[in-house]
Amino acid sequence: MKRWIKIVIIVFIAALAGIQLVQPARNMSPQSSRKEISAGFSVPASAQQVIQQSCYDCHSNNTRYPWYANIQPVGWLLNHHITDGKHELNFDEFASYPPRKQYRKFKAIENEIQKGDMPLESYLLIHRDAKLSEDQKNILAAWCEAMRDSMKTHFPADSLERPHRR
Ligand code: HEC
Repeated sequence: MKRWIKIVIIVFIAALAGIQLVQPARNMSPQSSRKEISAGFSVPASAQQVIQQSCYDCHSNNTRYPWYANIQPVGWLLNHHITDGKHELNFDEFASYPPRKQYRKFKAIENEIQKGDMPLESYLLIHRDAKLSEDQKNILAAWCEAMRDSMKTHFPADSLERPHRR
């Protein structure tokens, strides 16, 4: 083998070994029962089961990590999805959101599953059991709809809807 090829390979392997030392912090925190969605809303077992199985890995404070999360840069990529996902929607913090945001997120959940954008495509490649069946989509949509209807009876309409804001 040519000397420069050997050097390139050695540098590559060393870099790969080096980045293994940079492990992102795990998304695993003790549950705070006061903030999770069930503290503020009734979550029927059927809906809870679906979100737990298909959404919680990126939208809660606890991720079930696959073994390859220990391998970088794969773990970094997962971490990125989890951080972004939680930032948009965190079922473990949901009860502490302001009502307008809760209302908006119930609508956003309906939109995302209707478009088929959630769970993320790359996640479904590995987690086939997280793919939503038509039944599961209907369960979630009906639940979100019911939650929004119930919010409308508790809050004045203009406090929940505000155009041009996410
Ligand atoms: C693999 C990680 C992952 C999984 C699993 C996942 N999401 Fe997401 N989700 C994200 C990321 C990342 C974003 C932010 C970027 C984007 O919108 O694509 C997001 C954004 C969202 C948003 C957008 C919020 C807004 O206000 O626009 C909603 C709603 C949502 N997800 C719902 C769900 C639901 C419901 C499920 C389960 C059926 C789910 N997600 C499963 C990663 C995930």
